[in-house]
Amino acid sequence: MSAPGRDIEDHADCEELVRAFYGRALVDPVIGFLFTDVAHLDLEAHVPRITAFWATILLGEQSYGGGAFAPHARLHARVPLREGHFERWLVLWRTTVDELFAGERAEHAKRHADRVAHAFLGRLQGQAPAIDAARGLPVTLHGPGRSSTS
Ligand code: HEM
Ligand code: HEM
Repeated sequence: MSAPGRDIEDHADCEELVRAFYGRALVDPVIGFLFTDVAHLDLEAHVPRITAFWATILLGEQSYGGGAFAPHARLHARVPLREGHFERWLVLWRTTVDELFAGERAEHAKRHADRVAHAFLGRLQGQAPAIDAARGLPVTLHGPGRSSTS
């Protein structure tokens, strides 16, 4: 376990950060459902990929192959991802980083997340969600007897 005041130093630190983040994100009242109910996130498959993403950014590991945007475009086609979702994601990320680490890499982790979140949001906004395009209004897909047609 790391104590606040120590910076992110290695792959294990990145994994600790990622796991702590998902501990919050999956139960979050604002964005949790996107991971659990919409994406049905397989956490054990996802943690190594997202740890590689951060180890590539923060440690120069080059273990992440790229293409981070695509799953978000797929998600957005099902449930429109709005600015508020990204803002919430960033609050949880910053809180988790600050709780566990402090230092230049910790600052970089927050800064880079901010850039990526805004880049993703901008790209998504140029792309109409399929559900909006098809029906004109966002529709939540839940409950029995849901109709798939308008
Ligand atoms: C140590 C330096 C940096 C490293 C190692 C790094 C690494 C990465 C990686 C691995 C991705 C994901 C790419 C993908 O999934 O295809 C990414 C995305 C991104 N980075 Fe960096 N980055 C660095 C510095 C910066 C700086 C200085 C900026 C801006 C001033 C920046 C802005 C972005 C943005 C906007 C994205 C998202 C692009 C998108 O998919 O829309 N990064 N970066
Ligand atoms: C509203 C905000 C966000 C939501 C709901 C969200 C949700 C998701 C979901 C559901 C996946 C796919 C998991 C899977 O099925 O494999 C994913 C993948 C990923 N997300 Fe996000 N995300 C958000 C924001 C961000 C931000 C801001 C970043 C970066 C700073 C990020 C980085 C990634 C990366 C690196 C992956 C892995 C892509 C791969 O498999 O290579 N996400 N996200």
